[in-house]
Amino acid sequence: MIDFVGDHYNDRWMWALLASFVTVVLVILHHDCIAILFAALVVTVATVFRCLVPARKMPRDRTRTLNRRLHLHLMPGRGFLTLAGHRQAFGKRAMVKRSERIRPSMTRTQRKDNLDAHSIVAGQIHLGRDARIPCDEHVVVLAEPRQGKTGWLARVILKYPGAVFTTTTREDLFANTSGIRSQLGPVAVFNPQRIGHVPSTFRWNPVRGCRDEAVAIRRATAFSEACSGKGTEDQSFWENTATGVLRALLCAADLVGADLRLVEAWAFGNALPACQVLEQAGKAGLAIPLMEFVSSPAAKTTSTIKMVLEESFAFMGDPALAECVLPADDGLDFTEFIRDRGTIYMIAEAQGKSAPVAGLFACIATEFRYAAMQLGSKMPGGRMDPPMLMALDEVAAICPIPVPTFLQDSGGKGIQIITVAHGIAQLEGRWQENGRKVIMDTSNLLILPGVKDTELLRIASNLAGDVLLKDRTEGRFHQHPVITEAMIRALPAWRALLIRGGRRPAILKLGMSWQHPEYKRAARAGTAVARVTAPASRPMLEVQTEWGHLLGGSSQALTQASSSEPEAASLHDPEVVSQPAGTSRVITPPARRVRRAWDAKGGDDD
Ligand SMILES: Nc1ncnc2c1ncn2[C@@H]1O[C@H](COP(=O)(O)OP(=O)(O)OP(=O)(O)O)[C@@H](O)[C@H]1O
Ligand SMILES: [Mg+2]
Repeated sequence: MIDFVGDHYNDRWMWALLASFVTVVLVILHHDCIAILFAALVVTVATVFRCLVPARKMPRDRTRTLNRRLHLHLMPGRGFLTLAGHRQAFGKRAMVKRSERIRPSMTRTQRKDNLDAHSIVAGQIHLGRDARIPCDEHVVVLAEPRQGKTGWLARVILKYPGAVFTTTTREDLFANTSGIRSQLGPVAVFNPQRIGHVPSTFRWNPVRGCRDEAVAIRRATAFSEACSGKGTEDQSFWENTATGVLRALLCAADLVGADLRLVEAWAFGNALPACQVLEQAGKAGLAIPLMEFVSSPAAKTTSTIKMVLEESFAFMGDPALAECVLPADDGLDFTEFIRDRGTIYMIAEAQGKSAPVAGLFACIATEFRYAAMQLGSKMPGGRMDPPMLMALDEVAAICPIPVPTFLQDSGGKGIQIITVAHGIAQLEGRWQENGRKVIMDTSNLLILPGVKDTELLRIASNLAGDVLLKDRTEGRFHQHPVITEAMIRALPAWRALLIRGGRRPAILKLGMSWQHPEYKRAARAGTAVARVTAPASRPMLEVQTEWGHLLGGSSQALTQASSSEPEAASLHDPEVVSQPAGTSRVITPPARRVRRAWDAKGGDDD
């Protein structure tokens, strides 16, 4: 093939000279019209060819050339995704092929006619082709503030085929998607801090259901992992110990029909009644860590566990926030909600390291995902059909959901996770280096312009790979990065570099939710934002009034007890265990049995 713009410059000049010569001959022979047509044809073919096939010669200014080609919707350069590559992995055919596993309930014709049922549009590559990502692949979006992360995420949510779980720090995701999502299924908001004056539509009692030990363990783990006493020595030890105590308290509270207020009173007061409740219910094994906590002679142990628990229940100190865990009815049935393709908006803003409701958010996220996995396991293919999306905007800032753990086995269960963050530092700040690596290894990478994190830029440039380009000075071919760090940083607005699996890198034009025709129509009609109302609140009695008989002492004494140093107890005295208030108390028969179980385990403390 003739290479007008490629590496064979001599050929290119030879063909240009030949075309000029033919034109001149035609003019001499007085075929002026033919000469003009011939020249125009040659110029057109050369221009079209140059547009479609980027030059192999290194441009003088790579960044400017790349951006100019992107503005003209042309292939960005050598080494980027080609149209053939797009057809193989990002196009309609590829998506239909992949969709059999994603939507086992749909026929091939249905899947072919409705690509949105099994894939999301990540953006457009050159010549306006949609680049799609199947709903079983995760994405991590990294960008500086105000680059369009939320707008892009909202665009994905608008057309998502199944249930959606979102986290956000502002009401923007709700404002951009709730109206249209409400046409597909129910919309729920959990916004204890009342950000943007969007009311919470439900309250959720984390205690209900905890009489089932598996539920108690799951919820306790979510709470304590979210608030695991960062900065303390041996973090995982405290995390495990606090989980053990918390799961016992949650289980005991559910057995007596109480809520988090009693759990809190037990945690910071006298927890012996909780041991008795567990013992009477035949759950002595569950009470062992609680017994250790109650009778530990080591002040450090109890105070560190209390610190973790205090962080978990920080929100209980504010009556407005505490209300969100005190439902007047059954709260929200997650399984039903997911089956109805509902959209849930979890809104909170960080105060300090994380949001005061961080533990609660992590717990709800864990339960929501668990409900989806349970539902999916009963569906054909053993996965959620339609898939569920967890759109985690600003999740690193507000809510320490165990995203790395979620990512490892969600794709195959019909749960797609999109994590949005500002950069590597934010991911590492929340999930440490290992967690960050897991997130980046298991997700497709979408990097928006403006990033100044040199490590992220270096990683992205390395992942994009190298290409042979001819140097201007030496005239020889050398390996060069397909896209340099500076080129990524300087991408035009609303563009992003996509690195997906083993495919070539692609630069996408991103679609924002407010550009979507359906959103525009809804905005004109005034239905872009769903109308939501807060549930009726129930007047709550004081903990003392409702469960005084389970507190094992006056609430005032308990408050004093929680603030004083626990006294070293004689663990070898079979009849007496230390009380937080520094008093001693005779163990009642059931608690004594718990104690024996603990002793049989060879109970030891630090
Ligand atoms: N409904 C809308 N219509 C038009 N422009 C909007 C709309 N919502 C946001 N924008 C603009 O789009 C840009 C990107 O907003 P977006 O909230 O998506 O960015 P972001 O990357 O999520 O920022 P942050 O990190 O602050 O959350 C902003 O400049 C904003 O002003
Ligand atoms: Mg945002």
